[in-house]
Amino acid sequence: MTNKLTEKKKRLEQAKRRKITIAIDGPAGSGKSTVAKRVAEELGILYLDTGAMYRAITLKALRSELSLDNQEELTRLAGQVELDFQRMPDGSHHLLMDSEDVSEEIRSLPVSQKVSIVAAVPGVRAQLVKQQREIGARGGVVMDGRDIGTVVLPQADLKIFLTASLEERTQRRWLELTAKGVNVTPEEIKEELIRRDALDSGREVAPLRPAVDSVTIDTSNLSIEQVVERILALSSSLKVPEAPGLLYKICGSFLYFCLKVFYRFSVEGAHHLPATGPVIVASNHTSLLDPIVVGCSILPRQRPVRFMAKEELFRIPLLGPLIRKLGAFPVRRGKGDRAALRAAMEVLKEGKVLGIFPEGTRYNDNKLHPLRHGVSLLAMETNAKILPVIIRGTQNLTFFRFPRIKVYIGEAFTLAPVGTKKEMVLKGTAEIYSRLLNLWENAN
Ligand code: DC
Repeated sequence: MTNKLTEKKKRLEQAKRRKITIAIDGPAGSGKSTVAKRVAEELGILYLDTGAMYRAITLKALRSELSLDNQEELTRLAGQVELDFQRMPDGSHHLLMDSEDVSEEIRSLPVSQKVSIVAAVPGVRAQLVKQQREIGARGGVVMDGRDIGTVVLPQADLKIFLTASLEERTQRRWLELTAKGVNVTPEEIKEELIRRDALDSGREVAPLRPAVDSVTIDTSNLSIEQVVERILALSSSLKVPEAPGLLYKICGSFLYFCLKVFYRFSVEGAHHLPATGPVIVASNHTSLLDPIVVGCSILPRQRPVRFMAKEELFRIPLLGPLIRKLGAFPVRRGKGDRAALRAAMEVLKEGKVLGIFPEGTRYNDNKLHPLRHGVSLLAMETNAKILPVIIRGTQNLTFFRFPRIKVYIGEAFTLAPVGTKKEMVLKGTAEIYSRLLNLWENAN
């Protein structure tokens, strides 16, 4: 009875986490696909094997007798092939290439021997990464590969890097292939692994390496069960994301509509918002409209943004209760930044999204000004990810002018733990500034 109850509780808990994204990277034979598949099953979310996509393109190229030196043709091919992953009722995963089931053939030796060459072609990667990001942006997926945590889903909630000794990986691959009746010696496999490791780690585009914020697990002496358990334990410590309430959705949709109609509002990079976990949205600030613009920028991603507002605003009839309901929280004047920081910290500790204008006040001179240290301090204390945002257009607002408003959202990032607390805060602020400046300079 107790077992059944805990099982049920576990399943419910897992269902709530459906939107989390998990990136699993590692070299060939580290156990990625077996582990990733199992984790996806346990959490009831999608599993995407990105290696299979590179393999399918390789298979197609080999079948068409295409020269693997012809990068242009390979890129064109990657753009044309239709790939579709299907999960069968028996739990097995199949890959359909132009409607043909190629799940077995993509694992054949000729494909394994050539896939690293195809995967190193920048055009091929660009085509496949685009598809992978689209799937990742919807949330609720475990993706495995070589560059998932670093390139494809840098905003993933959980990043795992699996490793294992060369001997162990050789042994695993040998057992796997001989079980399928393939006639191959361990020496041949070892050589093949060394060659692929060198190609995957040494290539110029998206080489295999752990993301700075990934958790490395050496699987050499662990069973699959043990690795899966570790990842599940890590995923259960992630906070379930806050969903927007009805009022937020109604007001947000109305304001979004107004921005679209009057200001030809557009957003670039909304997929960078992490689907779960604490996030600080750090934006430049030129207009009173900016909190609305920031909130609307990520409204389609279903995560409400909480801003701090002056306490006096909360005393204004109708407006006060409304902004409180919409998630704003008061900052008491005179109590200084400390009280505000404490309140902001609470928001992040609950795994929510906090909006901050790190320049500290509004500037209307078309420049990015030096930042205060609040964002860096908060990110350091709470391990929150920082989402850099640049708003363009609101600096030209006047009562009768309706300029085009465009928002640029950069990759979410975490601060690297360096030196003392003070050094980390200073370096963090410099990092946030450089990310914002970069976005600003690329804004067109
Ligand atoms: O994981 P696998 O052995 O099925 O991957 C096949 C090849 O594809 C491997 O040589 C590396 C490459 N790959 C990649 O470059 N990026 C990914 N995200 C996944 C695989």
